[in-house]
Amino acid sequence: VPVEPPPAPKFNFNAVAKNVLDALTLPAGYGYTVLFALGDPINNATPAYRNDGSDTGFDFRAGDHHDGMNYFGLNAAGTAADVNGSERALLAMNHENITGNFLHVAGATSSGGVRPQAEVDKEIAAHGVSVIEIQKLAGRFQLNRASAYNRRITGQTALELAGPAKGSAHMRTAYSVDGSKARGTINNCATGDTPWGTFLTCEENWAGYFARATGDNAKRTANEVASFKRYGISEGSSALGWHTLAGEQYQRWNASKVGVGADGSDDFRNEANTFGYVVEIDPYHPGAVVKKRTHLGRFAHECAVYAKPVVGKPVVFYMGDDSRNEYIYKYVSKAVWDAADASRGISAGDKYLDEGTLYVARFKEDGSGEWLALTMANAAISGSTAYNFTSLADICVHTRLAADAVGATKMDRPEWCSVNPKNGEVYFTLTNNSNRVVAAPGGSKLLPDAANPRAYEDAKGSSTSTSKGNVNGHIIRTAEVGGDPAALSFKWDIYLFAAEAGADAAINLSSLTADNDMSSPDGIWFSKRNGLLWVQTDDGAYSDVTNCMMLAAMPGQVGDGAAHKVANKIGGASLEVTTQKGKNPSNDTLRRFLVGPKGCEITGIAETPDGKALFVNIQHPGEETSVADLADPGRFQSHWPDGGNARARSATVVITRNDGGSIGI
Ligand code: FEO
Ligand code: CA
Ligand code: CA
Ligand code: CA
Repeated sequence: VPVEPPPAPKFNFNAVAKNVLDALTLPAGYGYTVLFALGDPINNATPAYRNDGSDTGFDFRAGDHHDGMNYFGLNAAGTAADVNGSERALLAMNHENITGNFLHVAGATSSGGVRPQAEVDKEIAAHGVSVIEIQKLAGRFQLNRASAYNRRITGQTALELAGPAKGSAHMRTAYSVDGSKARGTINNCATGDTPWGTFLTCEENWAGYFARATGDNAKRTANEVASFKRYGISEGSSALGWHTLAGEQYQRWNASKVGVGADGSDDFRNEANTFGYVVEIDPYHPGAVVKKRTHLGRFAHECAVYAKPVVGKPVVFYMGDDSRNEYIYKYVSKAVWDAADASRGISAGDKYLDEGTLYVARFKEDGSGEWLALTMANAAISGSTAYNFTSLADICVHTRLAADAVGATKMDRPEWCSVNPKNGEVYFTLTNNSNRVVAAPGGSKLLPDAANPRAYEDAKGSSTSTSKGNVNGHIIRTAEVGGDPAALSFKWDIYLFAAEAGADAAINLSSLTADNDMSSPDGIWFSKRNGLLWVQTDDGAYSDVTNCMMLAAMPGQVGDGAAHKVANKIGGASLEVTTQKGKNPSNDTLRRFLVGPKGCEITGIAETPDGKALFVNIQHPGEETSVADLADPGRFQSHWPDGGNARARSATVVITRNDGGSIGI
């Protein structure tokens, strides 16, 4: 008797309409509470947040710009880890950046002169990570302010360097003359967790925090100049002006050579080399030291996501470098997985993350791809003329230059990635790329290719956008050959082309509808519980029609579509590119779940193991409020979540079904 296949799961919600309300819009039957907003105290000694720019004490308050986050279950007593704990848990989350105008009484001072110390101290402390204990009381998740787990890691926290670059000449600073220690984590974007129960926070646009004096190039080696250029730390940059204050905790944000020693140990010329990493934090052990894992490379790290570990096989992490024309990477550990390490915490990180191989991806037109090893054994690296590589430490610190040398594929801004728990395929959002062109490429501009096949003018031609290139972004996915995460080759296709539903078919290549159209996918996350894929947007091109959003998806698999020709056009120039396109989603397999308030990005997602609570971060609502607007609350772009005349705040919300049921399907 033939066995009937199980029926396809169905979404348990109707699509939310696009909108520009100053509200968080959810489907009928769903509701939310605000769990943790900018400035909320994480202990009982810190006063409530006034939210008028006068607050201090951010070492014990929620930071700003909530971003990626992970859920770490606790047992009912709150005394130990419990991966099935749905009533009590730790949330670890990033605070990527700041909305300076809301953070200070009269807005942020311009970065022209010496900045007020109180502003700089607040800004440094409002970056980094929060670890908080949450508990379900009377059916509602709340912050436990009395918890000993609660802590902030900020731009000034003392931490350790680990992996091949530790102790190298690149890391020697006045703070750590042996190059073993550093301070602070900055621009923490997306995250990851590990099979051993720790949290990974990823440093993205750290380069923008470093000032460098005009004329500094003349004092630096050719290697140093090449690296500063490649990472965008320009001569003459004053960054946020943190370096304008006296005192080494401020001077360290100046990457210029100002000392006389040969090794950099008398100044902070090497300080920037201590940023740009995946940083490991043990949420269950508040006393454990924080470690920057240099073997996972130095770039604009978006997230670090592991493939399901298999006993006796290496542990593999996937990562993207979020800048235009940057790369997709993976790290494969030398040590093989031992299930006994599952609750070992950060000491297991020493075993798996400090020795292994870093790879970068090359995508080919036929739908195959390969992982290229970034090691000194690779002649393209040892023979590079752009940077004189002599050690693995050089590769770990100047990773982009090593990846250039091996001929990796330049992508349309790799944001988050996530592994499909059903088949191990890896999804990467490529959010958009204004540097894709169809003719006369030059400098940092590139022609479309199979994996980044779109370049055109904004189809809408709206007054809000003059974007060109890959305006709306796409989602690419890979399947490792043989299903082995450590494999050296893979197959790929494009799961989804983001587009406006009203765009013509040559641009709306995935046939999106009013119920699921989107622009600039950024956050992407598979539920390990039910395999649902959540997609979050960070859009600049569709913001005249809709605020940023989150959608739920039930994707198929690599190869379920076919080769497809993409007709590109900018102005009078045109170029046709062949790509591998997945099967188009329908309203039954891709549906809008949420639209955020004005000016926000939707980013960061986690859920309880029972699927009854979904945590989502609403980042920088109202961020377009100017200093002049502060004089009149009626001119604030957003007042979410507090309403009235309040300054808007980034916040974590808890989304539940009114009937207490499972979220999504
Ligand atoms: Fe911080 Fe790539 O977004
Ligand atoms: Ca992002
Ligand atoms: Ca983004
Ligand atoms: Ca943002």
